[in-house]
Amino acid sequence: MRAQPFDNIIDRRNTASWKWDKLDKVFGTSDLLPMWIADMDFAAPPAVVEAVKAKADHGIYGYATFPRSFYEAITGWMKRRHNWDVKGEWIMVTPGVVPAISIAVQAFTAPGDGIVIQPPVYPPFFRCVKANRRRLVENPLKFEEGQYRIDFDDLERKLDPTVKMLILCNPHNPVGRVWPKEDLIRLTEICIKHNLLILADEIHGDLIFTGHRHIPLATLGAEVAERTVTFTAPSKTFNLAGLYTSATIISNPALRQRFNELLEVLSVNEGNVFGIAACEAAYNHGEAWLSDLLAYLEESADFLIRYLSERMPQVKAVRPEATYLAWLDFRELGLDSAELRRFLIYKAKVGLNDGTTFGTQGEGFARLNFGCPRSLLAEGLTRIEKAIKG
Ligand SMILES: Cc1ncc(COP(=O)(O)O)c(C=O)c1O
Repeated sequence: MRAQPFDNIIDRRNTASWKWDKLDKVFGTSDLLPMWIADMDFAAPPAVVEAVKAKADHGIYGYATFPRSFYEAITGWMKRRHNWDVKGEWIMVTPGVVPAISIAVQAFTAPGDGIVIQPPVYPPFFRCVKANRRRLVENPLKFEEGQYRIDFDDLERKLDPTVKMLILCNPHNPVGRVWPKEDLIRLTEICIKHNLLILADEIHGDLIFTGHRHIPLATLGAEVAERTVTFTAPSKTFNLAGLYTSATIISNPALRQRFNELLEVLSVNEGNVFGIAACEAAYNHGEAWLSDLLAYLEESADFLIRYLSERMPQVKAVRPEATYLAWLDFRELGLDSAELRRFLIYKAKVGLNDGTTFGTQGEGFARLNFGCPRSLLAEGLTRIEKAIKG
């Protein structure tokens, strides 16, 4: 294995970082180890840093276009990593997955339409539905024997002609599931039967652990592809979230035209010169770095699970199959959500994401971001252990 850059602690304080510089605003104190919002405390791959530096050195940061090589970087990546034949013209560049989801909600549904989400799930899904005045239809995941599953019966019961769309999180944040092929097939069969459009958020699709495989939903046949809008980005994979460059992939020309119209109406169809350079470098030259990152994250996940079972078995973790987010079950501590929040902030002095922000199903849970040097992960776990034992 190559030398590990992931153990280096890089000081992120006073770098305009949400994770490190907004603790007072988010948690009411800055005396915390931040293990919340989903970016990593690792430098991007060297090829990305070089590409951004080269752009910076050029000194002119005028309006950008998207060169052909940029689209080729994305299509090449999708083919190599996910065996998905994406055509350049299917890709629309968007300033982030969340804005793109909100735009898709506006483009393809009307106020009052029902939209399905599967909580506990990434909080902005709630906002993208509610802020656009669409109706939230919750199809909660089932939690059985330490594993989350899709509740297909509940889903079928909740569908009627006023429900038009489903937002899928694959892999799923926060529960870390890479949905198996048979689940995705069953889900798409239901969506076809009830004529639902599917928004597939696949932003975590490159961060997959051993034994699992990410299946882009749109690869499950023509009938699925024509009703699927896929959202992806190099931002989680290579830690580029602050560069605001994501891809929305739509093979259906009518849907693509409608989505493009709205991008124009909202005037969000321009690019960021640094984002373009970084994205291209990451997809073209980041593969070796990513395999090292995945090995590191997987060891960190093992470390976390072992730490909990050996030293604080009251706290259970759902073993992540993907990404760097661990969904921790604190229910055995017998605290309500306000007490758990206070316990973590003031007693343990760690900043985790409050489970209830992912839906009422998150009561008694919190999400821990382990995309950090192992020594910081150990520090965070030690703080929680001491708080429990103290
Ligand atoms: C499922 C999911 N979608 C989207 C995002 C954010 O995407 P963006 O920063 O591109 O808006 C995140 C970040 O945590 C996420 O977990």
